[in-house]
Amino acid sequence: MKRTFYVTTPIYYVNDVPHIGHAYTTIAADILARYNRLKGSEVFFLTGTDEHGQKVEKAAQEKGNTPLEHADAMVGNFKVLWKKLYIKNDAFIRTTDQEHGKIVQDILQELFARGEIEKRLYSGWYCLPDERFWTEKEVEDGKCPDCKRPVEYITEENYFFLMSKYQDRLIQHIRENPLYVLPETRKNEVVGFLTNNQLGDLCISRPKQRLSWGIPLPFDDKFVTYVWFDALLNYYSATKYLAPHINVQSEEAKGAQISPLKSEDWWPPDHHLIGKDILTTHAIYWSTMLMALGLPLPKNIFAHGWWTIEGKKMSKSFGNVVDPHKVADEFGADAFRYFLFREVPFGLDGDFSEHALISRFNTDLANDLGNLLSRSLTMIEKYRDGIVPEPVPGKDRDEFEKKIKAWISDPDSSIFRKYDSSLSRLEFNAALIQLWSFINEINEYIQHSAPWKETDQDILSNTLYTLAESLRHIALFLYPFMPATAEKMWNQLNLPGDFSSLDLASEIQWGRTGHGRKVNKGLPLFPRIDTKKQGKQDA
Ligand code: ME8
Repeated sequence: MKRTFYVTTPIYYVNDVPHIGHAYTTIAADILARYNRLKGSEVFFLTGTDEHGQKVEKAAQEKGNTPLEHADAMVGNFKVLWKKLYIKNDAFIRTTDQEHGKIVQDILQELFARGEIEKRLYSGWYCLPDERFWTEKEVEDGKCPDCKRPVEYITEENYFFLMSKYQDRLIQHIRENPLYVLPETRKNEVVGFLTNNQLGDLCISRPKQRLSWGIPLPFDDKFVTYVWFDALLNYYSATKYLAPHINVQSEEAKGAQISPLKSEDWWPPDHHLIGKDILTTHAIYWSTMLMALGLPLPKNIFAHGWWTIEGKKMSKSFGNVVDPHKVADEFGADAFRYFLFREVPFGLDGDFSEHALISRFNTDLANDLGNLLSRSLTMIEKYRDGIVPEPVPGKDRDEFEKKIKAWISDPDSSIFRKYDSSLSRLEFNAALIQLWSFINEINEYIQHSAPWKETDQDILSNTLYTLAESLRHIALFLYPFMPATAEKMWNQLNLPGDFSSLDLASEIQWGRTGHGRKVNKGLPLFPRIDTKKQGKQDA
């Protein structure tokens, strides 16, 4: 059986258009998905939209549409953006999919039958925009502790999921599985909360008279399902009707006796990627829901940080919401992807500004990477008519070529090992730092070996070959982060195959660049942005 890798993003509300926060998590998932496909795993990368509940109902009302018309109109904004940002998701779930609704109802029925859900008269402080109850202790000056808007005191009958009984098991699970909630600081917050507070039960219904836009409870049609209970189940329901199946008819499957993947084979997910504000719903609600269902918990929930914009909180009222379409149009999707994952570690908050993006663009992309490719190909054209020369045995120099080969091939300390272990911990920026230190070593290698002064033709051939071979490796490691750039490099180096079918393990061996290939030097990958000419702040 092939290794599987299942990664998810939150499903996004369709009350508004996508912003940088949506792009951030989705690109992170795309990087992991592309990397794992390259490593030969069978990948299921799921994203989608959260279409029920108060927020969507209200947004639809404001536009004079039904909620479904509204959702239908908004969902395209996400799909179009994902294409533009080179997101290669395997499925897109909408919580209004009939299949999802049916699975949610089956699960509710099952939990109700097992006594995990109970009807109770409940009084509490209710935040209408957030659609949730707060306890007396949690309310701050009559306001919602989350969105700071006024709460209302409501008494009504509702259905409750008996979440509280799983409190101790959840604490134990988090303690015994150090990778369950990451980063560490967030995990400590969750454990701190769970050990210092009595967990309540979760109200999972909304009376239809108050909110009608939701999945009806199968055992009481006067209620619809609380939007989070419905939304969290997407991660599971998708495995039942959207997950890829290996085609058993394929030659590979026949030869390797691979059986088709069943939906159970996708469960549990490897990573749920989320933003820090929705950690409680995932680490507590979702984990206890899975315990009640007797399903394995995900291997990891990773809560990333938030972007501020030029030092300020991003908000509609400040008018500073970053439109990913605009950034991609101006700087290219790959540069945007690079910036987001190079600038700050994934778990921390970061600051977005055009100035910082241009600075990374000019330094890391135009200077370090773009120049390396263009100088190397120019020299292969100039000294060998564009043909990658055959390396000459015995002509490698200890301080140069042998050292570079070791960085690529040393089983313990190769850049691949470091990059791989960084990505396995979701340390995207560390993986990029590793790669850039290699890029800069190769730039220095050109300076030190000075091919323009070299008189020994064998040494010159080895230098040019080493450059081509190093660039091939750089393209491989760039691919998960910057797929279009990696493909351009692959084409300029005139290498065989394409990334959708390459196998990383065989590609990272030294010497796979065939000599005798004619390179195609193309346009510069990242033409330097002249900030003075564009009237922008100098980077
Ligand atoms: O929460 N920087 O949907 P949503 C980084 N439907 N990330 C940000 C951000 C910022 N400035 N602002 C928001 C939902 N985010 C639910 C999820 S999952 C079963 C249901 C992130 O459309 C935020 O952390 O409000 C969250 O992950 C996502 O964008 C917003 O999603």
